[in-house]
Amino acid sequence: MRCSLFVCLIIGALFSYGAGVDPSNFKTCEQSSFCRRSRKVQSSGSKYALIRGTLNTYSDSLTADLINKENHHQFTLKLEALVGNTFRLQIDEKQPLRQRYRVEHALKGKPETTRISVQESDELTITAGTSKAVIHGDPFRIDFYEHDVHVVSVNAKNWLYFEHLRQKAQTPPEPAEGNDQAHQQQDHQDNSEEVQPASEPIDDPGAWEENFKSHHDSKPYGPQAVALDFSFPAAEILFGIPEHADSFQLKSTSGTDPYRLYNLDVFEYVVDSKMALYGSVPVLYAHGPKRTAGVYWQNAAETWVDIYTTETNVVSSLVNFVSGSRKSTPPVAHFISESGIVDAFIMLGPQPLDAFKQYAALTGTHELPQAFALAYHQSRWNYNDERDVTSVSAKFDEFNMPMDTMWLDIEYTDGKRYFTWDKFKFPEPLTMIKNLTELGRHLVIIIDPHIKRDNAYFFHQDCTENGYYVKTREGNDYEGWCWPGSASYPDFFNPVVRDYYASQYDLSKFKTVSKDVMIWNDMNEPSVFNGPEVTAPKDLVHYGNWEHRDVHNLYGHMHLMGTFAGLKQRDPQQRPFILTRAHFAGSQRYAAIWTGDNLADWTHLQHSIKMCLTEAVAGFSFCGADVGGFFGNPDSELLERWYQTGAFLPFFRAHAHIDTKRREPWLFPERTRAVIKSALLTRYSYLPLWYTSFYELEQTGAPVIRPLLTHYPADKEAFAIDSQLLVQHRLLVRPVMQQGVSKVDVYFPAIDDKKNGDYWYDVDTFQRHERAGYESIPVTDDKIPVFQRGGSIVPKKERQRRSSKLMLNDPYTLVICLDRQGKAAGTLFLDDEKSYAYRNGESIYVNYEFANNQLTNRFITKPLYKSDAWIERIIIAGLGYVPIDATITAKGISQKLEIEQRSNGAIVVRKPAVKMNLDFALKLNAA
Ligand code: NOJ
Repeated sequence: MRCSLFVCLIIGALFSYGAGVDPSNFKTCEQSSFCRRSRKVQSSGSKYALIRGTLNTYSDSLTADLINKENHHQFTLKLEALVGNTFRLQIDEKQPLRQRYRVEHALKGKPETTRISVQESDELTITAGTSKAVIHGDPFRIDFYEHDVHVVSVNAKNWLYFEHLRQKAQTPPEPAEGNDQAHQQQDHQDNSEEVQPASEPIDDPGAWEENFKSHHDSKPYGPQAVALDFSFPAAEILFGIPEHADSFQLKSTSGTDPYRLYNLDVFEYVVDSKMALYGSVPVLYAHGPKRTAGVYWQNAAETWVDIYTTETNVVSSLVNFVSGSRKSTPPVAHFISESGIVDAFIMLGPQPLDAFKQYAALTGTHELPQAFALAYHQSRWNYNDERDVTSVSAKFDEFNMPMDTMWLDIEYTDGKRYFTWDKFKFPEPLTMIKNLTELGRHLVIIIDPHIKRDNAYFFHQDCTENGYYVKTREGNDYEGWCWPGSASYPDFFNPVVRDYYASQYDLSKFKTVSKDVMIWNDMNEPSVFNGPEVTAPKDLVHYGNWEHRDVHNLYGHMHLMGTFAGLKQRDPQQRPFILTRAHFAGSQRYAAIWTGDNLADWTHLQHSIKMCLTEAVAGFSFCGADVGGFFGNPDSELLERWYQTGAFLPFFRAHAHIDTKRREPWLFPERTRAVIKSALLTRYSYLPLWYTSFYELEQTGAPVIRPLLTHYPADKEAFAIDSQLLVQHRLLVRPVMQQGVSKVDVYFPAIDDKKNGDYWYDVDTFQRHERAGYESIPVTDDKIPVFQRGGSIVPKKERQRRSSKLMLNDPYTLVICLDRQGKAAGTLFLDDEKSYAYRNGESIYVNYEFANNQLTNRFITKPLYKSDAWIERIIIAGLGYVPIDATITAKGISQKLEIEQRSNGAIVVRKPAVKMNLDFALKLNAA
């Protein structure tokens, strides 16, 4: 019986992979009692006031008590000023019945505070540098200012809603919603001893227990929601709060469900949707032509976010124009969480990059990846056996296409027991791995968090004996269903469990891999096929006695912490590479992400850009989407366009579902192969730019890929554009994401309100575009519009190799595109591409500058890395004349260099041959 149920479930899970998402498997706000209750406040408002006389001020913060004037419950408020135009607001119950959960491990460390001065009059004014918070007592509200411009208000709508913990009413409440009577009875029996006199009952049938489909949530601690509104008077659009398959600009939720943040495994997710997906990053930005601000709502429980924006359309713009009015109401975001406390970071910008960096200062960045991780990855579910892996790798060589990493999905394991191999299909993994690494390639294997409940499996034995699994309310090991069948889930919140998990990666234990094998953590929402909404029940109990409800969105993050520690311990010299599906704020410190199980269709291709742009501003620059689409079979055109698009997203991996047709590039006609090869070569040629960008991400927090508004904050037409992206401030990429088109509209953003733009040079032809606005750009099969900004210098490597490792010492090409003043600048970072030696200064970090017909370099740090690379070629576009030759001077020796001409007036200075760590000056000689 048990066995047949298992088989049914697995078949069911596999079947549903092909059947498309059924939204009714996931809750709406109305079906989620805390969301429904908190949202109701939007019509009635709430009544909170500061209690005068409770104020305490400190050098960097103040505290005061708040009262709910309706039920007289009291709260403690703390407002802290942080370095970098940021405030932190925390509100908790003054005397909670039980401690409420405070998120741990999301911040990269304790935020650095800064001095404040406080002035008391009718309001309290807290000043820190150029920012200021003004607290109004009754009704309670805080207005935040940056350089005296009002940018954020907290509780201006009076939607603050804080359900204090209370004792359950003695009289049984109305039966819970839903249909699971048996569970309800059981729960009443379980609670019999806890029943206490009521303290202000909440009139909602889902307050103390809740059913969804066949699942019962026992809710032993009752209602405990927290919600708060944030208004942005200086903003016109809101963006952020990934992960949703939706536009970059957040849409108004009036009349729809709010955006949901609840890590879920959604099969065949649909696009243009506010439904929750695998990751939850509760950071939101508000942007207007003069100011950008952000809010990081630090809460790991299920969260819904309502958005109120006046959607500008032709009619509203016309009305505003005629009436001379600005938009009437500022955009508002209403965060609603099931439990925890209010812990909000208010980031005051003032410009987009400032806000992104302020968020990065709180939650950290991905560290510089190894170069291979930025190159091309070849995956599918599954490469069947050792021969398959070896032959796919060999085919890339046969067809002269670069490829860095082969991936193995779940089928490599012995019956989905992670840290083991299927000995029939993979009898000699170490040899297979060696064959790859000898070619300069890597292997990534999947390790999911669910553990097969098999008494003969060492991992399960250890977890059972040591009590490492997440527990049910009754204190038993929770059992769910996932790929291995019956499975349990390690409680990664327990540091001992993380240590145990980390130790499994040690090569003395995991003997069948080498230290060059990297890890893919999937299904870590966690995915539970038979759980409520395909995840873990909320009343499970974690380390520290916290309910799963409190920490759900952090589960994957804790899994990653274990893996990251494991890889670091395994080889302290090597930077780990991990790919994760679930993620929370701060997970970017440990892993790259991808957008999960997309579809092989054009709308999903379009959403790969939208979703990764949103992830990038929320800390996850290292983002990509399954190239080709996970489900379904892309035709040649879609596959070609997907490779061309994927080549300009930071994480570049082809992946496909087990039921799809094989789609390695050589299985397609010659024409498609050529297009794919050219996309791969393009990617490899820009690796120095990607690498430098990731170094600078680590140093500064500036995202690697950016929406246009990042650098064109005043250009309203650019605000919502999410079919184009910037790579740093150097490239502008507009992939072709429609079928059968021979041209696409590219928007060249304006730098001022007179519609002046930067110069943009087509990277293939060097044709220059000088005007801001839309332009129709012709495309061919082999071309997508990519432009380099006039004023930038981009480092490239143009020799074709099998893998990035073999490019380490290859020479560089510098592409210099001049601005209106005939100037350009750009950085390059290089090191050994693998170890942490760069943190001890073993690197070269240089800024190239071109002005007055001369190129010079300036080392930003001492060039201590010994590189065999050199500069092979310098391309200059936008000069307006052809020099007769050039003179390079290095180490006091001058030498003449030849010039060649390229299209559209670009020139090439051939073989400067200067080593990367040398100072030089290169002068162009006019006729
Ligand atoms: C779900 C992941 O999203 C997908 O990429 C993977 O192939 C399957 N799990 C099987 O591991």
